[in-house]
Amino acid sequence: MILNLNAYEIKIENNLIDNLAEEIKKVYSNDRIFIVTDKNLIRLYESKLRTTLKDFKIDFVIVEPGEHSKSLHTYEVVSRYLIQNGMRRNHLLVAFGGGVIGDLAGFVAGTLYRGVPFIQIPTSLLAMVDSSIGGKTGIDVKEGKNLLGVFKNPKAVYIDPMLLNTLPEVEYRNGMAEVIKAAIINDKALFEYLKKHDRLTIKELIAAIEVKRKIVLEDPFEENIRMYLNFGHTFGHAIEKHFDYSIKHGFAISYGMILSLEEGVRLGYTPKWLYEEVKAMLFKHQLIKEPLYKKDEFIHLISTDKKQLADGLRFVFAKDIGQLEIVKGVKF
Ligand SMILES: NC(=O)c1ccc[n+]([C@@H]2O[C@H](COP(=O)([O-])OP(=O)(O)OC[C@H]3O[C@@H](n4cnc5c(N)ncnc54)[C@H](O)[C@@H]3O)[C@@H](O)[C@H]2O)c1
Repeated sequence: MILNLNAYEIKIENNLIDNLAEEIKKVYSNDRIFIVTDKNLIRLYESKLRTTLKDFKIDFVIVEPGEHSKSLHTYEVVSRYLIQNGMRRNHLLVAFGGGVIGDLAGFVAGTLYRGVPFIQIPTSLLAMVDSSIGGKTGIDVKEGKNLLGVFKNPKAVYIDPMLLNTLPEVEYRNGMAEVIKAAIINDKALFEYLKKHDRLTIKELIAAIEVKRKIVLEDPFEENIRMYLNFGHTFGHAIEKHFDYSIKHGFAISYGMILSLEEGVRLGYTPKWLYEEVKAMLFKHQLIKEPLYKKDEFIHLISTDKKQLADGLRFVFAKDIGQLEIVKGVKF
């Protein structure tokens, strides 16, 4: 017997938002939709969404922008709002927003009534290339980031790069960190492109998404190579926690990548040239600045990271562009 995971489409197209109703009808046959979004996005896109989705009865569930909405409190508020406002088990939940909205709404979708149908419409670069792909959802607790969560695959992911036109510059750079990470994991051509360019065309956007898609397809539950995607994240999460999440994820993992490369050089996994090239790239994309952080400030904070398994820390070292190694039981 074989139990297959549900396959789902990731559709990437300029102005896809204009045909959203047609796309949704391909995967959902009811007429009621609940859209989770944040205050910034509702201000920018409410009328657009109301027009394009006029065939549906829409309820917006609006939360504060920012990481602090990935909390037990907001999770409870959103879930109870949906229950009180007539959401049924076969109604559709749509995440329209950045990674915060995708993670929060996905966690609600995975747990409300033990699971409701769910669609991701990522609006930030980070969410397009990373958080909306792969089914990981979750919220933060005081002890650390993403410590409560479920794997919840959406019915579809709709990516409209035109939405990036309203994304603040700093958020674009924040997303670039995950694009750089994707290039290091498995795309030399993308890495070369990023040495010269500050913005992505739809071609590079697709290339970055493809790195993640392939890895998740091979290892959906992070038993082996999906850990590559954690490159820079063990230190990155510790840095986020150290600053009480006031530093953006992409910037934190950029410093995290630098610390991972530094450790890789020290332990003999990473060649010095790779450290230098990635550092130069992170400076170019204004993701890091001097003085760089020292690992000792964050070591004590990596103990609650999910990558810390019962048999010790699994840490991802980069040996070359497209060549990573997972090392068990690393002690710093
Ligand atoms: N689930 C995963 O696999 C995964 C992977 C990577 C990151 N994440 C999570 O993603 C989160 C970070 O995501 P993020 O950087 O998108 O943060 P975010 O959701 O807070 O969005 C960043 C800011 O940009 C605004 N914004 C988003 N799209 C916009 C648009 N098109 N126009 C104008 N403003 C827009 C938002 O309102 C917000 O203020 C973190 O919580 C991180 O843990 C999850």
